[in-house]
Amino acid sequence: METEDIIKMLNEDFVHELEATMIYSYNSFIIEDCEASRLSEAISVDEMRHMWWLADLIVKRGGKPTMEHTELDFGNDDLKGQMMRQIEIETEGIERYNHQVEVIDDPEVVGVLKHIIDEEKRHRKEFKMIMEKLD
Ligand SMILES: [Fe+2]
Ligand SMILES: [Fe+2]
Repeated sequence: METEDIIKMLNEDFVHELEATMIYSYNSFIIEDCEASRLSEAISVDEMRHMWWLADLIVKRGGKPTMEHTELDFGNDDLKGQMMRQIEIETEGIERYNHQVEVIDDPEVVGVLKHIIDEEKRHRKEFKMIMEKLD
């Protein structure tokens, strides 16, 4: 795989991490349930850390991270809707990273992406635990 194509993929990831950072932090401001709000806040910080890791990989390979995010979808304006949306974001991320570790042949990139996958799985599990308490 050409470096240019790897940078392109990493930038798609970077934008998704940026969107997750903004969605989780915004939701943490408006969620009234204390546990769900604090969890969303803490995980938004993890997503920003993922941005740093990806930006580091992008810049090292001669690229520039892009901040051009799409329209943000925060989920419906209740806790269940917000958690459903956040679980969906984690699942989409896990699927995208799983595909990328199969097709990217750069060991440093694959190592970082695998680490991110582990964290996204933990995030999804933690959001699901909030959901279970709602039912
Ligand atoms: Fe992430
Ligand atoms: Fe995550």
